Amino acid sequence: MRIDPETVERIKQTAAVADVIGDYVTIKKKGANYWACCPFHGEKTPSFSISPAKGIYKCFGCGKAGDSVRFVMDMEGLGYGEALRHLAKKYGIDIQEEEMTDDQLVRQNERESLLIILEYAKEFFKKQLYDTDEGKSIALPYFKERGFSDATLQSFDLGYSPEAWDAFLKSALKQGFSQEIIEKAGLVTQKNDEGKVYDRFRNRVIFPIHNVSGKIIAFGARILRNDAKNQAKYLNSPETEVYHKSATLYGIAQAKNEIRTKDVCYLVEGYTDVISLHQAGIKNVVASSGTSLTIEQIKLIGRFTQHVTVLYDGDSAGIKAALRGMDLILEEGLQVNLVVFPEGNDPDSFVRKIGSEAFVDYIKKEAKDVISFQANLFKEEAGDDPFKKAEMIKEMVQSISKIPDAIQRSLFIQKTASMMRMDEDVLLAELNKIQLKKMKGASNEPQQISAQQYSEVRDLIEPVSVDQPAEVANLAYYQELECVRLLINYGHLEINPEKAPGLTVVHYLIDELEGTVFQTPLFIRILDLCKQEFAASRAPKPDFFLHHPDEEIQSFSINISSDKHSLSSEWKDKHEIRVNTDEEMLEDLAYKNVLRLRKVYNDQHLQEILIKLDALMADAAEMDEVLLEFIRLKEIQKNISQELGTVIEK
Ligand code: CTP
Ligand code: MN
Repeated sequence: MRIDPETVERIKQTAAVADVIGDYVTIKKKGANYWACCPFHGEKTPSFSISPAKGIYKCFGCGKAGDSVRFVMDMEGLGYGEALRHLAKKYGIDIQEEEMTDDQLVRQNERESLLIILEYAKEFFKKQLYDTDEGKSIALPYFKERGFSDATLQSFDLGYSPEAWDAFLKSALKQGFSQEIIEKAGLVTQKNDEGKVYDRFRNRVIFPIHNVSGKIIAFGARILRNDAKNQAKYLNSPETEVYHKSATLYGIAQAKNEIRTKDVCYLVEGYTDVISLHQAGIKNVVASSGTSLTIEQIKLIGRFTQHVTVLYDGDSAGIKAALRGMDLILEEGLQVNLVVFPEGNDPDSFVRKIGSEAFVDYIKKEAKDVISFQANLFKEEAGDDPFKKAEMIKEMVQSISKIPDAIQRSLFIQKTASMMRMDEDVLLAELNKIQLKKMKGASNEPQQISAQQYSEVRDLIEPVSVDQPAEVANLAYYQELECVRLLINYGHLEINPEKAPGLTVVHYLIDELEGTVFQTPLFIRILDLCKQEFAASRAPKPDFFLHHPDEEIQSFSINISSDKHSLSSEWKDKHEIRVNTDEEMLEDLAYKNVLRLRKVYNDQHLQEILIKLDALMADAAEMDEVLLEFIRLKEIQKNISQELGTVIEK
């Protein structure tokens, strides 16, 4: 559901950025701004600045930037709407939800009811653990035997479900919950055709599952005795309106802050692994709960860190399970290490055996990046069999090709080559083959002209002003950048109040750029936003961008709006020198920018023609036509250059 724009505005205005951030880190006032040690990356001296006037923050160390809403999103791992609700609650602002359809209303009510009954169930199970004879004599000793302290039991909300068939059902009905909602929460199951229902969890210890903001969304329940033959060790809640197993990580609520500050997330298999490590002081740990990782789980981790260390059992099933999710993690751009424990140990048993310090040392010593790990494994498996070896190398290169970062990719190719005693070129050729296939499948974007191709052709024809296609592309980037800089900072101002009263910069630029398509995707989006706003008779002010919900747009805008003229105003005061500010020369800036944009696009066009000309050298008839186009473009180039007052090179 959407929150209506006025309320969004109220929330943003009330939730002062320094106030919000001050709840998480210590902030110090210096001049007009506040400074803090950045909560997003480890540092000892503050490089995280907060501007109350602009309502934004920016870290000069790691580049994170945003407003109070963005801050809460990142700290709490919430979505935009969730963060707004979080702030609204904190500052006591009533949220006017936009009219919901009946269907939405029912769903919303149902979600809320589910969360309420799940919370009630958690309290019920805890009461059973601490306040009943059954709990005290069976379940508490079980937890104690496993070495869980009282504090641990509390911080994971552990509980107990009694043996009776309907202890919870009765209690919930008595409390006034409808049978329907009890069923929908997955807390009962149907046992026979008559539709009679019974408690889903009986005679088990209970592991509540929290979502990222700490609400109970499901339960895992373990039998107390390992020798109970025909019973599953764990029973879990079914999928419900609030529980989506594939998007959930056990322990994320308790771990998120530590994951962010340690900048690494340990990934384990089981509930008890999370709990034992947490108790040993290793709190940046979550569990996939026995299934292979999903993309949603990886993205959830990605909200807090880009580094994952997978801690799995030493048996081969454990290793296979660990490797299954790897390509997905690599594809998300996360960096993955893998630690394997001595056979027969899981993180839970291992940390209890050797203690937390030795455990952390072990992780540090044994962690291998996943590619090297695979290489080792494959080397053992393939032995001297060349066919097997070839197959495995292909598989590894396949994994490497998933890494989005080109530098990392090539480092891994180097490493793999040396580990597998292979020629690097062979691996690179294989990698290129995969990349090419991907590209062909993905897009029909025009091929880049190689520098050599270009210079060969250029020598044949008259030279143009720029040497390298890459440079031309760069020039386009910088002119587009300048254009969006003007739009973001000054879009709402009049371009020349005397000559053209009422004509805003955004109006001028949109008109001038009619038919122009930027080449940088982010800039295309920003220009489109301006067009939308303009079409709705609004001239977007800087705040529109500085507080924009889209993270990329917001952080770009903050970076581009940093006050580069504060220096010049100091100058003014000190030396009484007149320095023109951007605002005073908007017309000049905008006009030149438009001309320069036209020029770079024209230069690009010229280059394409040069290439064509080369290809047509043999065909005189068509050549004429292309040559005419070439001359026309050269003419345009000359005119623009003259207008810009820059000297054409040749
Ligand atoms: N699991 C499950 N259902 C099962 C077995 C396992 O849902 N029948 C999930 C649980 O989330 C469990 C995880 O898979 O935590 C890992 O399984 P396992 O290693 O067997 O459990 P542990 O957490 O190690 O439990 P314990 O130490 O109590 O044996
Ligand atoms: Mn275990």
